[in-house]
Amino acid sequence: MPPTAKTILLTHYVHLMYDVYAIRKDFPVLNNVVYLDNASTSQTPKPAVEAINEYFFTYAGNYGRGAHRLAQQTTEHYESARETVAEFFSCEPGNVIFTKNTTESINIVAHGQEWAPGDHVITSVIEHHSNYLPWLSLRTQGVVLDLVESNNEGVIDPAKIETAITDSTKLITISHVSNVFGSVQDISRIIKIGRKNDIPVLIDAAQSAGHMPLSEKDLRCDYLAVPGHKGLLGPQGTGILILRDPAELRPTTLGGGAVEWVRGCEYELLEPPARFEAGTPNMPGVIGLGRAVEYVTALGVANVEKHVAMLARVAAQKLADIDNVTVYGPKDRAGVVPFNVGQLNPHDVSMILDETSKICTRSGYHCAMPALEFFGINGTVRASFGAYNTAEEVEVLAESVKLIATSFV
Ligand SMILES: Cc1ncc(COP(=O)(O)O)c(C=O)c1O
Repeated sequence: MPPTAKTILLTHYVHLMYDVYAIRKDFPVLNNVVYLDNASTSQTPKPAVEAINEYFFTYAGNYGRGAHRLAQQTTEHYESARETVAEFFSCEPGNVIFTKNTTESINIVAHGQEWAPGDHVITSVIEHHSNYLPWLSLRTQGVVLDLVESNNEGVIDPAKIETAITDSTKLITISHVSNVFGSVQDISRIIKIGRKNDIPVLIDAAQSAGHMPLSEKDLRCDYLAVPGHKGLLGPQGTGILILRDPAELRPTTLGGGAVEWVRGCEYELLEPPARFEAGTPNMPGVIGLGRAVEYVTALGVANVEKHVAMLARVAAQKLADIDNVTVYGPKDRAGVVPFNVGQLNPHDVSMILDETSKICTRSGYHCAMPALEFFGINGTVRASFGAYNTAEEVEVLAESVKLIATSFV
């Protein structure tokens, strides 16, 4: 007899290296809701919130400015967060730029270099608007955007990327995990294709950082765009850009904190990363993010990956087993489970889930209109899982969706 979903869950739990019920105590908000909107933003654990409180209550000053003790302490904590992040991604602190989100990280790459008419950028039809519009905006400079297609489960064949390369290709930019389908791209192969053809590769790790190992050698790309506020469990308003060679980009924002000297109409930029972080940065956010990254490190990214994928795959199967429910994406998905209930409007379904069972999901186009239009899907409900979600929450989701499917369709 094939194992039931429950036995699958239990078998996987036996292999878990962390106690999901114990860590939930660090996320008090989870007592009030079934939080399945992790692909949008995650909850932040107590130790990270405490680090932020400690900043405000004991040493808040400005970063990199001032000889007084508060400014010094703030700078030390901020730089310590950079070291933590660098260690997490197996790079040097000088390669880590703090930003406000993934979107800003991608925009720095798009607008921090010269483009010439005819330059060719390869991306895909299933990208989030944040890995689409920055490149589309370069059309005013004559840049040509090439959209590689995925299969109908959101998986991109790396061979299609290789075929799309021309003599004018200047960049390949692809999301590691699709926020629409939960599909995982073979980024190791895509990075290899880039290296072989001497074309830089940007990986949008919005849905994978903190949920999947990214520090292995074959996963090191030229530009890695990372949210602090999703899988890394940091606070909102934090993001990271990892640059393999920071000297290749110019900063897109200039001002205080970014220059070595200014004399009349001349100036010289500081070395990276400071030149990319002009103005007062988000010190409490970055310090909280550093602590959150330590938290994720202690859980073990490989453990989180197993846990999240297991929950998502069981959830997808349980939803697919309900009459009138359509689940999108591949079987071997990451933590994202998009679905529809009959012809019901996804927003209505999401609202009913919230009102009946306090389940938080996302609904609509997921900031990926071209992707949904390409596949003729008029929006979906999206359940997305994180390190702290449980098997019981999968059950609640499946039961609640079943009730909607039997009551309204
Ligand atoms: C694949 C992908 N890229 C980019 C983004 C934008 O991320 P941020 O909100 O951190 O700018 C998201 C957000 O959901 C995403 O899923």
